[in-house]
Amino acid sequence: EARKKALREEIKALLKQQNAVMVAHYYTDPEIQALAEETGGCVADSLEMARFGRDAKQQTLIVAGVKFMGETAKILSPEKNVLMPTLEATCSLDLGCPIDKFSEFCDAHPDHTVVVYANTSAAVKARADWVVTSSIALEIVEHLEEQGKPIIWGPDRHLGSYIAKKTGAEMLMWQGECIVHDEFSAQKLKDMKAVYPDAAILVHPESPASVVEMADAVGSTSQLIAAAKNMPNDTFIVATDKGIFYKMQQQAPDKTFIEAPTAGNGATCKSCAHCPWMAMNGLEAIRNALTENQTAHEIHVDEQLRQKALIPLNRMLDFSA
Ligand code: 13P
Ligand code: SF4
Repeated sequence: EARKKALREEIKALLKQQNAVMVAHYYTDPEIQALAEETGGCVADSLEMARFGRDAKQQTLIVAGVKFMGETAKILSPEKNVLMPTLEATCSLDLGCPIDKFSEFCDAHPDHTVVVYANTSAAVKARADWVVTSSIALEIVEHLEEQGKPIIWGPDRHLGSYIAKKTGAEMLMWQGECIVHDEFSAQKLKDMKAVYPDAAILVHPESPASVVEMADAVGSTSQLIAAAKNMPNDTFIVATDKGIFYKMQQQAPDKTFIEAPTAGNGATCKSCAHCPWMAMNGLEAIRNALTENQTAHEIHVDEQLRQKALIPLNRMLDFSA
């Protein structure tokens, strides 16, 4: 504990010294979220992280999250140093959607509007007409649906199915998934609901359809936090990464939050409701990003690619403004 306190103090001083600010995702560990808050940074969902990074006055951004979030920040602010605690922090959706294969898929359907989730590489964004995050995907696809053009959607098949069902849009789906949300079990959730009949079920739409169907509220991380605060229930079963409990408990201190069950448990679950890549954002890694040779931490995006990826990203930001 004393060591952690010393690390936190060291990071605070380094952030000031280097005119740097932290932006952290709700899935990072509680101590990282607390540090971002204490130091004038922000804790947010993917869309708000992008906006905060773009508008920050500081020269250096420390992005505590996963690589696509750092890349998005760099695409929006090429003049800033964008540092990540570790460049190894990726995402199963990004990994499962390599640009060459995705590009072939798009080329085979040239009459389709290409909509990609923010959880993708800069190269995949550069191939898209629109980028969306989970907080704005529904509205954007509704808007496109009105124009009547068919859609290519990638890479999250669960989020895609949820949106297709909600909007009636015709969507050709890339078959990717988030290893954290894919693991939630509808069968076990039914059993849990029987034990807590008054609990409201909050579900991130990266979860399988069978889990989404049981939800009292479906939404992005910030939408789920708002639901936890605003819904009248005292108890909530939450199907998303457990990092979110820090903010939910802070926003609704008198309420009870329970982790939704995963298909496996203990030694048999893959992620056990916590993203292994988000978990790489430790205090030491953050300190290292501010002290070590920056090449091990700095996000680079090829300038030509950046300019292409900026177009669909700005479309999203303008749409949501
Ligand atoms: P949101 O914060 O936009 O809901 O994204 C969830 C996510 O999976 C980030 O990795
Ligand atoms: Fe990717 Fe899922 Fe981890 Fe988010 S929680 S970074 S979607 S693997």
